[in-house]
Amino acid sequence: MPTITNVDKITELRKRTEELHLGGGKDRIEKQHAQGKLSARERIDQFCDRNTFLEFSAFAEHRCTLFGMAGKPAPADGVVTGSGRVDGRFVHMASQDFTVFGGSAGEVHCDKVVEAMNSALKTGTPFVFMNDSGGARIQEGVDSLSGYAKVFYANTELSGVVPQISMICGPCAGGAAYSPALTDFIIQTRQAQMFITGPSVIKQVTGEVVSAEELGGAEAQMHYSGVVHFIAEDDEHAIGVCRRLLSFLPSNNLEDPPMLPGEYSLEPEPSLNELIPDDPKKPYDVRDAISKVVDFGDFMEVQETFAENIVVGFGRLAGRTIGVLANQPKFFAGVLDINSSDKAARFIRFCNAFNIPLVTFVDTPGFLPGVSQEYGGIIRHGAKMLFAYSAATVPKLTVIMRKAYGGAYVAMCSRELGADRVFAWPTAEIAVMGAEGAAEIVFKREIEQAEDKAAARANFTKQYRDTFSTPYVAGARRLVDNIIEPSQTRLLLAQALESLVTKRELRPSKKHGLMPL
Ligand code: HXC
Repeated sequence: MPTITNVDKITELRKRTEELHLGGGKDRIEKQHAQGKLSARERIDQFCDRNTFLEFSAFAEHRCTLFGMAGKPAPADGVVTGSGRVDGRFVHMASQDFTVFGGSAGEVHCDKVVEAMNSALKTGTPFVFMNDSGGARIQEGVDSLSGYAKVFYANTELSGVVPQISMICGPCAGGAAYSPALTDFIIQTRQAQMFITGPSVIKQVTGEVVSAEELGGAEAQMHYSGVVHFIAEDDEHAIGVCRRLLSFLPSNNLEDPPMLPGEYSLEPEPSLNELIPDDPKKPYDVRDAISKVVDFGDFMEVQETFAENIVVGFGRLAGRTIGVLANQPKFFAGVLDINSSDKAARFIRFCNAFNIPLVTFVDTPGFLPGVSQEYGGIIRHGAKMLFAYSAATVPKLTVIMRKAYGGAYVAMCSRELGADRVFAWPTAEIAVMGAEGAAEIVFKREIEQAEDKAAARANFTKQYRDTFSTPYVAGARRLVDNIIEPSQTRLLLAQALESLVTKRELRPSKKHGLMPL
């Protein structure tokens, strides 16, 4: 009887490892490529620094014996999990392999994902989930549902402890979409679709006819629903976006974001003095201000095409990560509405959880009036912003550029909501409402009784404007620390930020506050 030598064992290991790395086989990998997608392992290779990926439970096998599954190989059970370095910092990850049973998630598949998540939790490192799956593995029935439920539970445990990022690189349908939904950021490629119920079910139930792309493509899930945070052209681009995003973030909630060492110019930026148009009704692009304030103009905008009336994203100020929020006068005059309140509140919560100081640029005429806004719950949604800013204990810096009217003045990180430093440009107008509207209400009788109503209206409007369309009244009330030349904004924000690095603020202990969800 021939003996099995160690050489044979190593040969067998090599063969098995090769099979493992081929996932569902060469043909299926080629099919992925033909669809413009990478394989699960190629995604990991591109994501991690060279030779740093360490795989977990590589030879895991499913235990399903029903519906012809007995003994059927499922390399890595359709999900590659492990840890690796990204720009030198450790990250945990799971990458679903569509070539293995369509990346479908059964008991073992999900347990592997949870195992990687728990390791991320224990080590305080971010978790990245690359989704490409037909959802719950149909042959495994309730075991699949149970598995997914465990992933959701783990998502919730990790929430606020380590950053969680989902990449949607292929199908992500049904209940499976709720794992990404529980994470902090979703990056969706243009090859991927994400929905709870697909077009055929929708047609049966509601009669609506819609294509999968229109329903769950990246554009739709960013623009209409605000589910997605970044759109990527393809997997490679998505990986680049994810790496860039991680560069702004700390590894966990006990760390500060990484400081980018270097020499930073804080010289005045004269063009900012010209940014606000003379006509107060004229729009401008607030991104022009942001890019002149953050280091090297490097601003990573989040949810670029959702609720465009507010701009949110990450930048750095003299090497330190900041979370920027800014009303966008170019879009609906920068009003606050349901979607922009949700977008802003969520971003504030993320920044606060991960020790990222908030810098808020204000130019808003107020909350959007309208029946659909009221019926949609603008009171409830707008309150999220008030709650999120008030509850945030990270350094909070506010720059009032132009309009800061009504409740929106309060909501945009006013002094009263705990702003540590408030700067106003000389163009700031801090009032209950615009001068025209205010004059109509306060001087209603006088205008009605005047012989020349137009002249009276103009006169009273001017009176109100002269009083409140400057920042000096707010300055006198100490609602503004300083009225500054716009050109100095970067310098003053950088100084303020540095002085607040050691900020510690304790709040009454409680299980959790009750944010108006
Ligand atoms: C088992 C699956 C599968 C699944 C796909 N496959 N989805 N196997 N369970 N959920 C298998 C296919 O049988 C096929 O195997 C291979 O994966 C590739 O699938 P194709 O259909 O050939 O690929 P494609 O044409 O690209 O279509 C992809 C797809 C489609 C749109 C994802 O496969 C599909 O609709 N799958 C079912 C989706 C679904 O209804 N899932 C349950 C969602 S509910 P072979 O051997 O032929 O290559 C859910 C609940 C979670 O997820 C709840 C959590 C609480």
